[in-house]
Amino acid sequence: MKVQVCIIGGGPSGLMLSQLLHLQGIDTIILEKSSRDYVLSRIRAGVLEHGFAKLMREAQCGERMDREGEIHHGFYIAHNGKLDRVDLHKYSGGNSVMVYGQTELTRDLYEARDRLGGKVVHNAHDVTPHDIASDAPYVTYRSGDELIRVDCDYIIGADGFHGVSRKSIPQDKIKEYERVYPFGWLGVLSRTKPVSPELIYAKHERGFALCSLRSQVLSRYYIQVPLTDKVEDWSDDAFWEELKLRLPAEIAAKLITGPSIEKSIAPLRSFVAEPMRYGRMFLAGDAAHIVPPTGARGLNSAASDIYYLYHALVDHYKKGDDRGIDGYSQRALARIWKAQRFSWWMTTLLHRFPDRLPYEDKLQDTEFAYLFSSEAAQRSLAENYVGLPF
Ligand code: FAD
Ligand code: DHB
Repeated sequence: MKVQVCIIGGGPSGLMLSQLLHLQGIDTIILEKSSRDYVLSRIRAGVLEHGFAKLMREAQCGERMDREGEIHHGFYIAHNGKLDRVDLHKYSGGNSVMVYGQTELTRDLYEARDRLGGKVVHNAHDVTPHDIASDAPYVTYRSGDELIRVDCDYIIGADGFHGVSRKSIPQDKIKEYERVYPFGWLGVLSRTKPVSPELIYAKHERGFALCSLRSQVLSRYYIQVPLTDKVEDWSDDAFWEELKLRLPAEIAAKLITGPSIEKSIAPLRSFVAEPMRYGRMFLAGDAAHIVPPTGARGLNSAASDIYYLYHALVDHYKKGDDRGIDGYSQRALARIWKAQRFSWWMTTLLHRFPDRLPYEDKLQDTEFAYLFSSEAAQRSLAENYVGLPF
């Protein structure tokens, strides 16, 4: 089989790029190792920046998002017994974020791919890129007993942090920057009315907590837990008790609890691989970079990669102009590092670090005092949270 662009990974990054390229008449295939049900069962992002929402519309996938998603003009930060609001709208020049689950967005992208007859292979085993540094790369995968070969012009590695793409680049051609945080997030999804119409990020001596939502009947809550904790260690009751302890009393009193419909622990990591291109393979999304989820940047960083790649490939195929392709890694990384900085800052601001010095605790408190006394500081937070321009 021959296609112009072979995309490894059917998460949001791979699906979005495939859909955008298809609309421009560029032929793609997506090779996804899992079943569609499995991909759609993973509960992840909930907050989309406006740039991502715009890309969904451009990909002709924004209709349900615009109908069912919620526009949020602000969020709250609970700290030291206070509850302060960050006014995103006011401090970002009228921007906002969209609350719409990654599960729903992925479902919309799959449906759009089906509608246009896009090639999406699920349960593609042993996906392996070959001859990436040559002018004739190809990818093989196994379907049952059959080994299938896909020849292509370009390979896109959109297969997440644990995927095969980044690992197929020779080690001396890629540099990795990493920080692993000494805690994770335990997340619970419950069919209950959210405790607050806007998100609440809470810094507490017992650890961080986040009250988020997917809709007015579906809540998503997180608490910081040690890396040694297992999901089985946490009954629903224990989770709700701990969450209440970390929220301001007036919020805890309003919390409606219920059975969890999903419960999982995500480790927190900052990671960047440079460059994001090797020969004819381009890395995009979590395959190239990871942020701790605190600033809601992960999926939103993937969006700018896809935007740059999409335009670069269209310019290549339609105008014979390779400047976008040649500049992709540098351009993408410039924005990625800003998202890394912001996510690291939000994580440091809001979490309890096990071995922190009393001096650092004082600085953390001073960050809040400064933030909520300075319009400039709130403007900086708001412009990063709604998303820096692509
Ligand atoms: P993935 O979603 O990881 O998709 C990669 C795909 O590749 C997967 O489907 C996988 O099965 C497939 N794959 C892997 N290996 C192979 C292989 N060898 N062959 C073929 N296929 C393969 N981001 C935000 O912007 N806002 C948020 O609010 C937010 N909240 C988050 C909360 C949590 C708890 C977590 C864990 C993450 C959150 N994120 C958030 C981050 C966001 O979910 C990720 O950045 C996003 O999923 C990245 O998309 P992707 O398509 O690049 O990678
Ligand atoms: C969610 C996740 C985040 O990382 C975040 O900053 C906000 C919301 C969520 O899953 O709803």
